[in-house]
Amino acid sequence: MTILLQTKRLIIRSWIPESDAEQAFVIYSDPEVTHFLGKASCAASVESQRQRLIEGIERSRRRNNGTGSWAIVEKKTTTIVGTILLKQLPDKDSLPTQDYEVGWHLRRASWGQGYATEAGQVMLNYGFSVLNLPVIYAVVKPENHASIRVTERLGMKPIGRTNKYYGIELLLFQLNAPVKIDGE
Ligand SMILES: CC(C)(COP(=O)(O)OP(=O)(O)OC[C@H]1O[C@@H](n2cnc3c(N)ncnc32)[C@H](O)[C@@H]1OP(=O)(O)O)[C@@H](O)C(=O)NCCC(=O)NCCS
Repeated sequence: MTILLQTKRLIIRSWIPESDAEQAFVIYSDPEVTHFLGKASCAASVESQRQRLIEGIERSRRRNNGTGSWAIVEKKTTTIVGTILLKQLPDKDSLPTQDYEVGWHLRRASWGQGYATEAGQVMLNYGFSVLNLPVIYAVVKPENHASIRVTERLGMKPIGRTNKYYGIELLLFQLNAPVKIDGE
C-alpha cells in the first residue's frame, strides 16, 4: 500500500483492489452518491467494482505523470470514506486534455464532516508543489450544490459554464498555483 498524503484526520493512499472493493462498492452503488456522476461511476457488483479499481490503477501506471484516483481513509476508524482524484480532464471524445481537475466522492455516511474539503486541499497542494501544475480546475454539474460548496471552501474561482469536457455542460472552477517567492 502506498500512502500519498496525510492530513490531520485522513490518509490518502492508493487503492488495493483485493481488499478495498467492498468499501468502494458501498460508495459507488449508492444512488445518492452517484446521482451527479456519470453512468460509468455506478457499480453493479463488488466484482465489477474490483475490476474498475484494477483498471484505474493500470491507467495511472500508463500515464505515469503522478495523477490518479486515491482512497480517502479516515484515520480514527481506518474506514475508506471516499475517493479523491487529480487527473487530466477528458474532452468530448474522452481524450485527455492538458487541463487537470481535482474531484471528490464521499460515501453518504461521511458527508458533513469536512472530509472532501480536507482531502481536496491536500490534493491541490500536491498538484501545485509536487506536479508543478500552474492551474487546477474542478468541473461540477450546476445542480450539485454540495460540490459547489466544496470548491468555495477551497477558494476556487468560478469561471462560468463550459462544454469543453466530458461532452456536457458543466460549471468550471479554477485555482492558480500560489506565486513562488525566489529561492522557494
Ligand atoms: C460533494 C461531496 C463530496 C460534498 O460532501 P460534504 O460532506 O458536503 O463536503 P465536505 O466533506 O467538504 O464537508 C463540508 C460540510 O461538513 C461540515 N463540517 C463539519 N465539520 C467540518 C470540518 N471540521 N471542516 C469543514 N467542514 C465541516 C460543513 O459545515 C459542511 O456542511 P454544509 O455544507 O452543510 O455547511 C458529497 O456530497 C458527495 O460525495 N457527493 C456525491 C459525489 C459527487 O457528486 N461528487 C462531486 C462531483 S463534481
